[in-house]
Amino acid sequence: MSHEVPKTSSDATIAARGGWVPEFVTRPSAPPIYMTTAFDLDDLSQLDSVASGREAGYIYTRDGNPNHEAFAADVAKLEGANAGIACASGMGALTAALLAMVKTGDHIVAARVLYGRTGQLINHLCSSFGVTVTYVDITDVAAIRAACTPKTQLALIESVSNPLVEVADIPAVVQALGSVPLLVDNTFATPSLLRPIDHGAQLVWHSASKYLNGHGDVMLGVMVGANALMRKIRGALSLYGMNSNPMESWLGSRGLRTLPLRMARVSETALTVAQDLEKQSAINRVFYPGLSSHATHALAKRLMPRGQGGMLAFDLKGGRNAVDALFRLLAETIPFSPTLADARTTLSYPAGTSHKFMTAAERAACGITDGLVRLSVGLEDANDLMKELGAALGRIAQ
Ligand SMILES: Cc1ncc(COP(=O)(O)O)c(C=O)c1O
Repeated sequence: MSHEVPKTSSDATIAARGGWVPEFVTRPSAPPIYMTTAFDLDDLSQLDSVASGREAGYIYTRDGNPNHEAFAADVAKLEGANAGIACASGMGALTAALLAMVKTGDHIVAARVLYGRTGQLINHLCSSFGVTVTYVDITDVAAIRAACTPKTQLALIESVSNPLVEVADIPAVVQALGSVPLLVDNTFATPSLLRPIDHGAQLVWHSASKYLNGHGDVMLGVMVGANALMRKIRGALSLYGMNSNPMESWLGSRGLRTLPLRMARVSETALTVAQDLEKQSAINRVFYPGLSSHATHALAKRLMPRGQGGMLAFDLKGGRNAVDALFRLLAETIPFSPTLADARTTLSYPAGTSHKFMTAAERAACGITDGLVRLSVGLEDANDLMKELGAALGRIAQ
C-alpha cells in the first residue's frame, strides 16, 4: 500500500531532519563511520526479528553498531575465535567478562604478575562483591592445580607479562586448570605473534588502545572467544554500558590493517635495541624475551617463533633518580609517556604508573624495582634509537 508523503517547507522541520542525501548507490573505498545513537526500524515486526537475531541489523549503539562489529569480528578472526565485542577500554572488556562470569561466592585464580589495574580490579571484585581469588606463580603448575576448587569460575593470566615481558606457558597452564576457563590478556603479544586460543585458552582480551590500534590515539578494548561465552559477556557489556563508540572502533579497524607489519618490525627493532642495551654500563639488567639471558627465552622461541614483540624493560643502576635523569635527557626524542605500543618509541616507569596501585612489597615480589624502566619500541630506525638511548645512558653512567 503506497501513500503520498505531504511536502514540507517549514524551516524547523527541514533543519531537524537535515543531514541526509537522497538515496543513491555508493561504494566508499574506506569503511564509513556509523556515528548514530540508534537505527531506524520499519515496524514492530522488524524490531522483533532484529532483536531476536532472525534478521541482521542494529537497534541501539550501546547494544551494537557496525563499527563495533567490524572491529571485534576482525580481532576474533585474527585470534582464531568465533565472536568478539568492542569495549570502551581494555578495563571495560575485563569488567564485562568478570561481571558475566563471576558472582558472589565464586572463586578465581590469577597470575601473581599482572598489569597493576587488572590486579586492582580483581581485588575490588573480591572486597566489594564477595568473590575470592588465589594469586599463583604461573610457572608453578602444581600451585595452579592446587588453587582450583569447584567454585573456581575463571583464571586470568597475561600471555606476555607487564612489565618484565615473561612469556606464559599457556599449554601448561591450560592443562593444570582442567575445566576452568582461561582468560588471557594478549595486549603485549597480539595475535600476530601469539594466539592463546590455539593453545587452549577460552577467552582473549586486549587493551586495543595499544598494538591493535597502534597509533596512540584511541581508548578501546576487545574481548574474543567462543559464541556461548561471548553471548553472556555481550549481555553484561550492554547492560553495564561498557561499549566502545563508533569512531574509536573505526580507528581500531584502521590500525588492524597494518598490525602484522608493525609487529614484525617492532620485534626486529626491539631485539637489536635490547642487545645494544645489554652493553650499557648504566644498566643492571635488560629484560626482553628474545635475549638468551631472559627467563622465558626458550618458551618465547617456541610460542612466539615469528618475533617476541616490541616491549622490553631494563633496570637502571641508579634507581629512581637515574630514571628521572634519563627521562629528562630523552624528553625530546623518546618521551616518558604512560602508555605503550604507539608508532613512536616511548618510555614508562612501572613503579609510578602501571603498577603504582601495588604496595612496595608486592612490587618487589614481582621484580618491579625502583630503577625499572619499560621501553615500548616503535617504528623508528633502530640505529637512531640506539644512538639516542646510548648517548643518554652514557651521560647517566658518568
Ligand atoms: C597489559 C595491559 N592490559 C590491560 C590494560 C588496560 O587497558 P586500557 O588502558 O585500554 O583500559 C593495559 C593498559 O595499559 C595494559 O598495559
